[in-house]
Amino acid sequence: DKAGHRHFMAKEIAEQPRVLEDVLSHYIKDGRIVLPEALDFREVDRITLVGCGTASLAGQVARYWFEQIAGLPCETDIASEFRYREPPLSDKSWAIFVSQSGETADTLAALHYAAPRVARTIGVVNVGTSAIAREADVALPTLAGIEVCVASSKAFTCQLAVLAILALKAAHDRGRLDDAALGRHLDDLRAMPALMSQALALSDDCAALAGWLSEASDVIYLGRGALFPVALEGALKLKELSYIHAEGYASGELKHGPIALIDRNVPIVVLAPRDALFDKTVSNMQEVMARHGQVLLISDAEGIASAGSGTHASLAMPSEGGVFQAMLYAVPMQYLAYHTAVAKGTDVDQPRNLAKSVTVE
Ligand code: F6R
Repeated sequence: DKAGHRHFMAKEIAEQPRVLEDVLSHYIKDGRIVLPEALDFREVDRITLVGCGTASLAGQVARYWFEQIAGLPCETDIASEFRYREPPLSDKSWAIFVSQSGETADTLAALHYAAPRVARTIGVVNVGTSAIAREADVALPTLAGIEVCVASSKAFTCQLAVLAILALKAAHDRGRLDDAALGRHLDDLRAMPALMSQALALSDDCAALAGWLSEASDVIYLGRGALFPVALEGALKLKELSYIHAEGYASGELKHGPIALIDRNVPIVVLAPRDALFDKTVSNMQEVMARHGQVLLISDAEGIASAGSGTHASLAMPSEGGVFQAMLYAVPMQYLAYHTAVAKGTDVDQPRNLAKSVTVE
């Protein structure tokens, strides 16, 4: 049942405020984090985050949170590489496996590799009865509800919510955040559903850009920090749904090669929240504009006022959300891909060549 939406993708994007509310109220009660007792981060020396596709990108976003908020060394990998590269793992480390379906063959194999080598395995899974949920030492449900569209949307933001809560728990357990600072971060998280609703209001603006994007044969997404993996997610969504070639790059990596791709036919989507890296991202954006790249700037109203001149278009995001703003920027990634696919007439909910659950490697 598409609940009045034209596609499951549109329905599932729109459900994000509600499912985020569900997952946040499951793990945050009376201003305190509620997680299984086994998750005491004091003795952990390293976190390894593994998944495939969008789920691996949720892990990549969370790495910034574990490192910056909790000061916890963290590595991420895609499961298909992790399972075969024989990574040495510390027996004081924890490995986190992120999966919507909980059945992805490579992610399950990665769990099997890690289980005898690490202190604890944790599954961040949407399907509670799945293999990864059963086999991990601790299973943390993402509570996004059933996701029908092959391309992931609400499952991704719910994965981010669970991982954000884990990073905050780690920071608090390890003495990096006192109660007051933890409380402020939890307030930022609790504000997410309402902020997400504001971001959903950008659907029409994204639809208005779909004609422009659907004419392109290549689209580049740029971000820094936690917004770098969100840029990768934006590019992945566009590829999957509209079959347009798209790549995400860390903005700072541009001048090491990819800038050679830029000309007036290449749309560049720049993810630039007004965080500590804003000026750096803006200067990369200006380098692209000097080569006649057509920029879509995604920032908040002030960011757009200060840096938006000369861009092709801009999308004004909420400025709140604190360190977890990356979650919000998933929404324009989803809507740009969705509306571009609708404009091109591709099969949004069932893109060619893709399966919802990848149970073979
Ligand atoms: C992208 C997408 C895929 C999945 C990947 C992992 O929109 O849906 O990249 O994220 O196949 O699937 P799960 O999360 O079920 O392990």
